[in-house]
Amino acid sequence: MGYVGHQQALEVVLDGLRRLEYRGYDSAGVSVLGNDGLQVERKAGKLANLEELLSGRDLPGTLAIGHTRWATHGPPTDANAHPHVDCAGRVAVVHNGTIENFELLVAGLQERGHQRRSDTDTEVVAHLVEERYDGDLPATVRSICKDLEGSFVLVISHADEPGLIVAARRNLPLVIGLGDGENFVGSDVTAFIAHTREARAVEQDQVVEVRREGVTVTDLDGSVVQGPSYHVDWDTEAAEKGGYEFFMLKEMDEQPAAVRETLGGRLTAEGLLHLDELSMSDEDVRGIEQVFIVACGSAYHSGLIGKYAIERWARIPVQVEMASEFRYRDPVLGRNTLVIAVSQSGETADTLEAVRHARSQRAWVLAVTNTVGSTISRESDAAFYTRGGPEVAVASTKAVMTQITAMYVVGLYLAQLRGTRDADEVRAHMRDLQSIPDLVQELLDRMEPVRELARDLKDEPRVLFLGRHVGYPMALEGALKLKELAYVSAEGFPAGEIKHGPIALVEQGVPVVVLAPRHALQAKLVNNVQEVRARGARTIVIATDGDESVTPYADHVIKIPDTKSLLTPLLMLVPMQVLSAEVARARGLDVDQPRNLAKSVTVE
Ligand code: F6R
Repeated sequence: MGYVGHQQALEVVLDGLRRLEYRGYDSAGVSVLGNDGLQVERKAGKLANLEELLSGRDLPGTLAIGHTRWATHGPPTDANAHPHVDCAGRVAVVHNGTIENFELLVAGLQERGHQRRSDTDTEVVAHLVEERYDGDLPATVRSICKDLEGSFVLVISHADEPGLIVAARRNLPLVIGLGDGENFVGSDVTAFIAHTREARAVEQDQVVEVRREGVTVTDLDGSVVQGPSYHVDWDTEAAEKGGYEFFMLKEMDEQPAAVRETLGGRLTAEGLLHLDELSMSDEDVRGIEQVFIVACGSAYHSGLIGKYAIERWARIPVQVEMASEFRYRDPVLGRNTLVIAVSQSGETADTLEAVRHARSQRAWVLAVTNTVGSTISRESDAAFYTRGGPEVAVASTKAVMTQITAMYVVGLYLAQLRGTRDADEVRAHMRDLQSIPDLVQELLDRMEPVRELARDLKDEPRVLFLGRHVGYPMALEGALKLKELAYVSAEGFPAGEIKHGPIALVEQGVPVVVLAPRHALQAKLVNNVQEVRARGARTIVIATDGDESVTPYADHVIKIPDTKSLLTPLLMLVPMQVLSAEVARARGLDVDQPRNLAKSVTVE
């Protein structure tokens, strides 16, 4: 958040950060620009820690910027908290997002004598401003933005420009608050809604100059861009959710951006994968004899997809196990075993215990997590961060999608290093993955018929989900979502298994969701659809655009865009998320906080 106006800026910014707390964070900081120059204070942990640090201190000034950080580069420490400053302490920068080419930029800055004081990607921006500033901060920021790769919202102040904040955005949200003799920028309108309800959205690759008297927006070439302002009439609660009724709906819509973040910065200039996070020597990677994936709930389903990806591409045998069962059966592990622990929170007790057990057996443990500095990431040998951003709703949506994306990246990396896929194949698969965010967006934009269907299903006591191959774990995930959100008795099965028992559950009118995107086993799935339909099931079939082979046997067809069959889980997820959220909503349930559940399960 940034503020410039007539009030004491520290209070305004702290209040804004308090209102942004719902987004989740692990450290906080502010910088105030006043008569005493630029003063910066930062603290790991909750905002209360920062407030305690500031208590009794006077930081006078009418311009301030502030930030709550969700760690992506470096653990959540005081030193990694924002704002970051340049060598001379005259530039302060806060940042959301990931600067993908920061290592290259750091190398150049260090060569030119700059001192790096944090592990963050953000700090490079402060040093670049220091180096390039020539009395025109907006022009400096525009020139820097042209050299940055990745996603960012930057908010910057400079001791030589006492009345000016400069902000910039690419791929992540930034909003301007237009006040009377005061102006604001924030990640969303909640930051300033207590002061003004007039807002303007900042578009892609725009730079904003915020002064007390007014705001100017330019493109990266410096041409002024006009844009409409709008009146915000949400109450604070609605504003926190970005106008959505529930966080889950907002987080579902954040999935394209989240997948982009997971994929960002993983490729070399030659289009090959680098995964330094794995911290294993190439020789050790080649020596891996088996992989175990341990996780709970939805993360376990992501792990199941990991099995298909790693076995297919890297040709290493993979076992996926619920973390709560793993250590109790004394699995055979050893030096040549890679254990992948998948956990959004990084705090799930069962998964943590599985990690501890694996390490005690001398296996190499890689955590795949969304939470930098979490216990699981600290206790593992290495960590791959999914960078999905904080997830507030209890039900996992963007976390699952980014975990599955991470599984593909790990699978391809292992394949690349072990030579089971050549460079061209790895590149082609990465290109397919990179097209996923646009396809997810396209799908999200056409979900109204699924919501309608969900409302129609709201009184059904039981729903079955069937899938084959990668559709099977997604059938489990679809059933879990419907259970936990709508309290519907839902079960997922491999479609080939139903004739061995579950088909006895099918009777007149029972809804059966069949995941049947185009792939090699589709003809068999068509048979399964016919089997359940012949016994009275109401069939809801998820199929690929342009494929009509299942249509004759479907009571409802939900189409998803075409992609490689191994990647279809990322698309199958969307209609199933929409379906469960809407059934829950239609039943009048709390979509974000289902009964008996917690976001982070820290007991065994
Ligand atoms: C389901 C859900 C849970 C979590 C599980 C693991 O929507 O959210 O099943 O996936 O509790 O949590 P993490 O990933 O934090 O270890």
